[in-house]
Amino acid sequence: MKVLVTAGPTREAIDPVRFISNRSSGKMGYAVAEAARDAGHAVRLISGPVALAAPEGVALVRVTTAAEMLAAVKQHVRGCDVLVMAAAVSDWRPKKIAALKLKKSDGPPRIAWEATPDILKTIAPLKKNAQVFCGFAAETDRVAAEAKRKRREKNLDAIAANDVSKKGRGFESDRNALTIFLATGRAVRVAPTTKKNCARILLGVLAGIEKKKKK
Ligand code: C5P
Repeated sequence: MKVLVTAGPTREAIDPVRFISNRSSGKMGYAVAEAARDAGHAVRLISGPVALAAPEGVALVRVTTAAEMLAAVKQHVRGCDVLVMAAAVSDWRPKKIAALKLKKSDGPPRIAWEATPDILKTIAPLKKNAQVFCGFAAETDRVAAEAKRKRREKNLDAIAANDVSKKGRGFESDRNALTIFLATGRAVRVAPTTKKNCARILLGVLAGIEKKKKK
């Protein structure tokens, strides 16, 4: 299969030296890309700024902002069989990026915010029937309900929900636990394990959906 993966956070500039971002390390998305490569798939990884080494045997596209990630996904989504959006896209960005560094002596700035584009919602109309799209949902509460709502709203075949309020998994950790909610109503639980194992199991589930669709 051709597998397209997004990983890591995005950064939205405030001024030439400052930005808003989030705690995503990129580890889950990179694990998905590596697991797909190890399973023999052709993998392209669109990555926000992370501290991880470029995985061997994977086509890497580096981006910084949500707008750049959207452009890269739009460019590469057509040819893929499976899309896994593991990136933690920043939800907001300053309406205007200050051309010059904001002076600390001027006091805390009042920043006008706007929403970034929702990448999955934007590309949903481009989705072909045989393609499998999977999102992630990082939640602190009402995990199942929120994940199911997002799966529906973003027209996904599957969404991998993880509870980021639990210690020792999720953001920055090498471990995770997932509940994968499928469009069929089925849910696959992955008990706490390494992100590598989570990635392998998730890919197995997505490959199964892809196979059924192609029949
Ligand atoms: O709505 P929420 O950000 O919680 O949804 C998470 C899912 O949506 C993830 O798969 C994430 O990559 C994707 N997303 C997106 N564009 C955004 C925000 C999130 O595609 N602007």
